[in-house]
Amino acid sequence: MVTCGGSRTSLSLRFAYHSDHFRSTMSDSIVLFGPPGAGKGTQASRISSLTGKPQVSTGDMLRAAVASGSELGSEAKGYMEAGLLVPDEVIIGLISERLQEPDAVSGLLLDGYPRTIAQAEALAEVEGVSAVISIEVPDEAVVERIVGRRMDPETGMIYHIRFNPPPTEISARVVQRKDDTEDTVRNRLSAYYEQTAPLADWYEQRGVLVRIDGNRSIEEVGSAIEVVIASLGD
Ligand code: AP5
Repeated sequence: MVTCGGSRTSLSLRFAYHSDHFRSTMSDSIVLFGPPGAGKGTQASRISSLTGKPQVSTGDMLRAAVASGSELGSEAKGYMEAGLLVPDEVIIGLISERLQEPDAVSGLLLDGYPRTIAQAEALAEVEGVSAVISIEVPDEAVVERIVGRRMDPETGMIYHIRFNPPPTEISARVVQRKDDTEDTVRNRLSAYYEQTAPLADWYEQRGVLVRIDGNRSIEEVGSAIEVVIASLGD
């Protein structure tokens, strides 16, 4: 297991040095791991621009499928609204197809996948994983983050009514996710502890798990993740 922290200034310098190197050599995928509301989506765009790996969020893919009214969306909707995991066979097929696309050739930034041992085993059959970044946040902070989350439907940007308020000019159009209620988040946390948390040990045994203290500001968490990303180029 590796833990990580670090100052933003030294990190930026370090990253500037490593950037080209790991863009050209880091061909495996990176997994963003953690409980609901840990900050995976918030940190993903930064990691994606640092590594050049496209961000792929299974939650976003499923929400798009629900919105389009597709067969996949109809199947996933009930599970998502109840805070349960969508069955493995549905998700594994979705990611296997995504990995075939041309932009996946240098690996993906996987946000919210895998979430079960079966998903991790299926991924291992088709794709390498260079790091699993586990953003660790206590349950009460998770609940506060989820219940206060708002999203801009036009840009997809994630905000929080207290920690990262939307700018005044867009505050009237931000929306709350259907599954971002206190009751549903408790179910999502239960699903996380029962089905997803055991994956941390699975990846730790394979030497790729990096734990990040996620219970600090968005900037501080981002800086700690940048240190991890820079070290992948060493
Ligand atoms: P998904 O959309 O993946 O939800 P999740 O994992 O529950 O994660 P979230 O999107 O809720 O949180 P996040 O970690 O991205 O946090 P965020 O950055 O937004 O999945 C939804 C559903 O789809 C699942 O319940 C399941 O049904 C299904 N599903 C998806 N993938 C699946 C899979 N592989 N297998 C089976 N089913 C699957 O941040 C949250 C809030 O906190 C925001 O408001 C943000 O501004 C704020 N915040 C972020 N960082 C900080 C910080 N450091 N300090 C203070 N506030 C912060």
